[in-house]
Amino acid sequence: MNVPFYGHVRQYHNIKAEIDANLQEVLESGQYVMGPMLARFEKEFAAFHGMRHAIGVGNGTDALWLSFMALGIGPGDECITTTNTFFATAEAIWIAGATVVFVDSDPRTNCIDPARIEAAITPKTKAIVPVHLYGQCADMPAIRAIADRHKLLVIEDNAQGIGARGRDFRIGQLSDVVCTSFIIQKNLGTFGDGGAVVTNRADVDSEVRRLRNHGSVKRSCHSMGYNSRLDDLHAGVLSAKLKHIDEWSDLRRQWAARYSAGLAGASRITLPFETPGYRHVYHLYVIETKAPEHRDALLGFLNRNGIDAKCHYPIAIHQQEGYPWGKGARIAGPIPCSERNAASCISLPMFPELTAEEVDFTIAKILEWEKAV
Ligand SMILES: Cc1ncc(COP(=O)(O)O)c(C=O)c1O
Repeated sequence: MNVPFYGHVRQYHNIKAEIDANLQEVLESGQYVMGPMLARFEKEFAAFHGMRHAIGVGNGTDALWLSFMALGIGPGDECITTTNTFFATAEAIWIAGATVVFVDSDPRTNCIDPARIEAAITPKTKAIVPVHLYGQCADMPAIRAIADRHKLLVIEDNAQGIGARGRDFRIGQLSDVVCTSFIIQKNLGTFGDGGAVVTNRADVDSEVRRLRNHGSVKRSCHSMGYNSRLDDLHAGVLSAKLKHIDEWSDLRRQWAARYSAGLAGASRITLPFETPGYRHVYHLYVIETKAPEHRDALLGFLNRNGIDAKCHYPIAIHQQEGYPWGKGARIAGPIPCSERNAASCISLPMFPELTAEEVDFTIAKILEWEKAV
């Protein structure tokens, strides 16, 4: 049996009529950039978050740096985040011209550890950038409390957690801005690149709208800006898919529960930790080998047996060759948890359209490997 890592085409087949209808509508409208489908999707996406504004942009990385720029974050400022995230979190801070300050992650959730943040704050600190890693919310109430004490901005990197919730908070409720990616493999993914900024702040909304469109809010009138817009064809795909996101998150959670039950007796790996009361939407189902030296062995075994397991992210940002490329960067305190996560993580196949046979086959192969070690 072959178990794929992604289910994009299965998903397309399941809701083909809805996607095709929206694509047809855009094609027939003749308006493909900043047209009515984008406006419709932005309204739907803001409503999904229970927030006032959503702005479609070119990708999730742009969503981050456009937000930083709209919030006045730039050269001389420091932003606190983690090294065990996708590279773009730090890259966007650097694009905005600011310095990245890395603190350690929580040993269980792998999201930023709020207990490490305060020691990293200096007079230059401007913002905290928590990542809802793998689809589980960071500890936003603790982060908000620190931000309030030190008058910091909070920008949520929610590329991986659309539809997730905390115990008593929603995404967006405890921050200034939420940034999202719609790249193909995300929980809400289009057939290419896309991203969005979601906020209740009218000033951020108008500034990101200006920046994404060549600094223009009125035809032929420009100030310095960029070109980063979500195309209407992508907005049409996303509008069709958004109607299914809660049911897809439920399926992801169902497959996660099946993995966790099947692997409960495994002694050489650690299973994902769900913070009690949180709705983890399992963008990724990430196990860790207790011995880092077992990671490549288990990954290779799964791949040789037709299971397309991967790693997110095996090289932490500060471990990348050439880091930090002349950019401003500081590691505040030891970061053993982020480094352990990078050294031992394995992502098992996880998408709503998986089958029970595929999940059970993956479980069986991991247990088989365990016995042979
Ligand atoms: C945590 C995180 N931040 C930012 C991004 C950047 O998004 P994009 O690839 O759409 O630029 C991604 C995904 O790619 C991500 O996983």
